[in-house]
Amino acid sequence: MRVLLAGGAGYIGAHTAVALIEAGHDVLVVDDLSNSSAQAIARVEQITGADVPLLIADVRDEEAVAAFVRTHAPVDAVINFAGLKAVGESVAEPVRYYDVNLGAAIVLLKVMKTEGIRTIVFSSSATVYGDPEHLPLSEESRTGIDLANPYGKTKRIIEEILRDAATADAQLQAVSLRYFNPVGAHESGLIGEDPTGTPNNLMPYVARVAVGSLDRVGIFGDDYDTPDGTGQRDYIHVVDLAAGHVAALEHAGPGYDVFNLGTGVPVSVLELIAAFERAAGRELPRQILPRRAGDVAASYCDPSKAQRDLGWTAARTIDDAARDSWNWQSRNPNGYAGD
Ligand code: NAD
Ligand code: UD1
Repeated sequence: MRVLLAGGAGYIGAHTAVALIEAGHDVLVVDDLSNSSAQAIARVEQITGADVPLLIADVRDEEAVAAFVRTHAPVDAVINFAGLKAVGESVAEPVRYYDVNLGAAIVLLKVMKTEGIRTIVFSSSATVYGDPEHLPLSEESRTGIDLANPYGKTKRIIEEILRDAATADAQLQAVSLRYFNPVGAHESGLIGEDPTGTPNNLMPYVARVAVGSLDRVGIFGDDYDTPDGTGQRDYIHVVDLAAGHVAALEHAGPGYDVFNLGTGVPVSVLELIAAFERAAGRELPRQILPRRAGDVAASYCDPSKAQRDLGWTAARTIDDAARDSWNWQSRNPNGYAGD
């Protein structure tokens, strides 16, 4: 298969590029590099030995994307990673979030139509479940448009756009993958998560503390109704997540479908910090802070649908993710900017 990765220079896209190439597929990438570096694609080429064509463009530039696809025809499938993903920023700049995230998805569907591409896989998020009514979360769990932030709403709306598009076009194969909490890095240490500024997410924050560029880990609340009082999440190793995209593409059939991609194992903030301390071989300073607005106590999935229908399960543990994240962070203390 030849697969267009929109937003493929980003954290999850670069790991998925490696997984696809290693599974025998070809990839090409369109990315405006607004939250990534062309260096990530150079590193993908270094890991795999493959050539990865990169179009540096906004994916909403329909003509440019269509021309790129025609140059590399036949393209069989699209994975849509492209978009903005900072929850707090989406509250402050909702129109920009709707513009970029919905615009990217709609333009990709239009290009697929004109260029005869039938398969699309979309990066959705566990955030579409909002505050869970029951755990673990299955694909049938309640989702809403009454979500706390515009970022989550864009994910939910794009899911519905894909469902409608597949209803209207019997040949379309559309899959939403609801990622739980992606963490870790490729075991080579050549690609990994490289957030700009201070990380919002827990593991990259802990990694920066371990490497000495941040003072201490702030723990957002220790009074949740969880075994140790800190928030529980379903941390999925990004290499397992990448394999989930390969499985989704290889098993896609006509119509619309949705899958949770997670481990099913809840891990607390304290447990994640402990795993990172084992990986880095040192104690990490920490401080209990108030709860962060909008956080839920616990979120983890029932991954059995992906296991049954895609033959996919997460194989890696939180210790594997901490080891690989530490390997990436310690080899690249300044991320791709160090090159
Ligand atoms: P990322 O920011 O590293 O990757 C997104 C990529 O899209 C970046 O390379 C960015 O430059 C590119 N991009 C953004 N707007 C673009 C545009 N208009 N045109 C072309 N390229 C554009 O993020 P990621 O962590 O790899 O996430 C990938 C996708 O998965 C996103 O859609 C995100 O919302 C979703 N997701 C991520 C997480 C997570 O925790 N990382 C969790 C759930 C869902
Ligand atoms: C956050 C987003 C979610 C998004 C996901 C992936 C919010 C409210 N939610 O989810 O929409 O899909 O990232 O990008 O922003 N924590 C600390 N200290 C820190 C950072 C986090 O204690 O410095 C705690 C949090 O309270 C939470 C856990 O660590 O219990 C994980 O946090 P994070 O990595 O930000 O992910 P989510 O909150 O699950």
